[in-house]
Amino acid sequence: MKNLVYISTAVKLMEDEQLVNLLNSARNMNLKHQVTGVLLYSEGTFIQVLEGKSSDVDHILSKIEADSRHKNLITLVDEPITERNFPEWSMGFYTPKADNITHLAGYLKSTNKIEGKRDGGAAVTMLKTFIESNKLSMSY
Ligand SMILES: Cc1cc2nc3c(=O)[nH]c(=O)nc-3n(C[C@H](O)[C@H](O)[C@H](O)COP(=O)(O)O)c2cc1C
Repeated sequence: MKNLVYISTAVKLMEDEQLVNLLNSARNMNLKHQVTGVLLYSEGTFIQVLEGKSSDVDHILSKIEADSRHKNLITLVDEPITERNFPEWSMGFYTPKADNITHLAGYLKSTNKIEGKRDGGAAVTMLKTFIESNKLSMSY
């Protein structure tokens, strides 16, 4: 298994209805491929964690990369894992405040670049802690 974290920019600000549509199809597909994770969206920025069998995660990612609703996708973490961080979620979804997502994005980018070492575990743990400590509830 592996987990992958990326950040990307929406081509246009997303309306609630568009986000719901995106999530519905993402969740169906993820269930089929046993991919779990979480998607954060705020004011045009997406951060997503995908976890599952390596080939399944890569398959889903190739679809996501080809999606014209966003651009500038940067993979921040792509690492093997032994256990899922979000086992219950076919795709959890949160809309944190803009300040928080900017802070998170900055943190994730810097964590990943410490002396060229990848520290995906820390980045994903940080995301999980952020979600739990803010007691973020599912928006949809
Ligand atoms: C930010 C973002 C996150 C997405 N996350 C997922 C996802 O977790 N799983 C998924 O199957 N599709 C996800 N999608 C949608 C895919 O890009 C694609 O539309 C979907 O897999 C259907 O692909 P298909 O029409 O080729 O079957 C996401 C799209 C965007 C823009």
